[in-house]
Amino acid sequence: MCGIVGYSGNKNAINVLLDGLKALEYRGYDSAGIAYRTCNRIEIIKASGKIVNLEKKLKKNTNSNMGIGHTRWATHGKPNETNSHPHRIGKFTIVHNGIIENYESLKKLLIQNGYKFKTETDSEVIAGLLDKLYSEKNDILKVIVELKKLLIGSYALGIICDDIPDKIYAVRKDSPLIIGIGDNENFIASDVPAILKYTNKYMILDDSEIAEINDKVNIYNDKLDIVFKEAITFEGNLEVAEKNGYEHFMLKEIHEQPEVIKNTVSPFLKNGLESLNDNMPDFGKYNKIDIIGCGSAYHAGLIGKSLIEKYADIPVNVYVASEYRYKKIFTDEQTLVILISQSGETADTLACLRKVHEMGINTLAIVNVVGSSLAREADKTIYTKAGPEISVATTKAYLAQITILSLIALAIGYNKKLISEKKALEIIDSYEKLPSIIEKLTCYDYKNIAKALYKKNNCFYIGRGIDYALSMEGSLKLKEISYITSVAYPAGELKHGTISLIEDGTNVIAIVTDKNIADKTISNIKEVKSRGAVITLIVADKIDDDFDFADYKVVTPSVNDFISPMVNAIPLQLIGYMTAKLKGCDIDKPKNLAKSVTVE
Ligand code: AGP
Repeated sequence: MCGIVGYSGNKNAINVLLDGLKALEYRGYDSAGIAYRTCNRIEIIKASGKIVNLEKKLKKNTNSNMGIGHTRWATHGKPNETNSHPHRIGKFTIVHNGIIENYESLKKLLIQNGYKFKTETDSEVIAGLLDKLYSEKNDILKVIVELKKLLIGSYALGIICDDIPDKIYAVRKDSPLIIGIGDNENFIASDVPAILKYTNKYMILDDSEIAEINDKVNIYNDKLDIVFKEAITFEGNLEVAEKNGYEHFMLKEIHEQPEVIKNTVSPFLKNGLESLNDNMPDFGKYNKIDIIGCGSAYHAGLIGKSLIEKYADIPVNVYVASEYRYKKIFTDEQTLVILISQSGETADTLACLRKVHEMGINTLAIVNVVGSSLAREADKTIYTKAGPEISVATTKAYLAQITILSLIALAIGYNKKLISEKKALEIIDSYEKLPSIIEKLTCYDYKNIAKALYKKNNCFYIGRGIDYALSMEGSLKLKEISYITSVAYPAGELKHGTISLIEDGTNVIAIVTDKNIADKTISNIKEVKSRGAVITLIVADKIDDDFDFADYKVVTPSVNDFISPMVNAIPLQLIGYMTAKLKGCDIDKPKNLAKSVTVE
């Protein structure tokens, strides 16, 4: 998730652009750049790392009345100065937020037409395409209409053309873009925080519209008719704006999950079964998989184990990194080690990667931060497209991790002909439906469940099989942000000791989504119920029971095993969130925790 800004007006554009980029820092970035017009040319200044590095490169007293800027959260190509935006080819300079899925084919076409590229990015291709189209049409608005027909993927673009000195053009599809309205000055930005220092009036550009800004704003539809749009006034401060109106980053990130699923699956499913193996290792070489991670990443590995063993028929061991790094390791060249990490900087996980590399073992990293240590050192890396995750408690990155593990199980199972083409296509179709299912579940009211929980000192999460793996993540979500002692237990194991802790009013959250073992789990639930437990049931609607033992119930839609974990993780995330909220906890920054544990 990158940030773009643009300005045209009577102030010094460079200051306005830098203020805007700093206000977008919360979106996460690894490099930044600006392009501004001086009397007769476009200057481009870029820097990797913090925005202060960019400021240091700007000559003092540089003045301009128009420019565009960008903070980059790398999705294609390393996070370095070359790959940072703005990108310039021919007469066009652009900044881009989003992912162009067909950039390789467009790049090939442009190279055949004599264009040369300096970067590994998908965004640079857009500048080349604009220049080629403009050389054919010489009408910027018609060129942008044509561009939109050719691009597949998501984009929010700020565009400057050498021939049109005071205007900035903006266009978007799926990525956010607003037009800030000032007095004889106007702005483009990914998000409201970027313009709040100068104006709180803005318009939201729609996917079908093109904005043309200088001291005036023109908005065109796809037929190039001028459209009238009401300006919106933002009532709130910068902090409220950064959370997009949500009370906490954690809640904002939970609500971003439908988009995260779309972005994470699209590289694998964009051409149906043909792209399923894109960027995957050759799993056919391996007869065993070790999965390693910490915390939620470890819990994601447990989900992966369940699906890969069941559908790809490969034995999978899952280890906590801090244990794996010191244990005797039984692996050989037919073992693949998968390391999972949101930050890609977790010390224990990195140590495991280096240990197995010394043994000549192949590694696959599933990472969210592009260019992180784990991503750079692993033999192969699959990126979760969750965007920057600000809240210490992971939600969208965990969901993306289990989505990728689910896709791996599907790919191996299909490649080994354990899953028929017909079945595989049905499963692929279910990933397309997943965002809307998640959207609905994030709108359920979990307050009653949280009210029963928030004054308690302890809580149990129980489940069997994949539901036990899910219960571990649910338990961690609750304890790390609400500080309620919480234990996840295999439902069938309670009677071997732990059930002695169950007394009147003990909260037990039970997950029942697997029809094949539902009756066993239900009898375990009744065992704790008969000892006074307060039962919250998270159950798939295919499970046939009157559930009269449940005090609270969340019925989730029955879906196939490949997407069921993502569906049933949502109530667990929101029960943890709502409980911590009722307790008035510091949800985004829980005590004693760091977002990335870079020490042993
Ligand atoms: C989960 O909510 C925590 N933030 C924590 O368990 C986290 O998953 C763990 O520290 C691993 O971090 P990583 O994914 O960045 O390696």
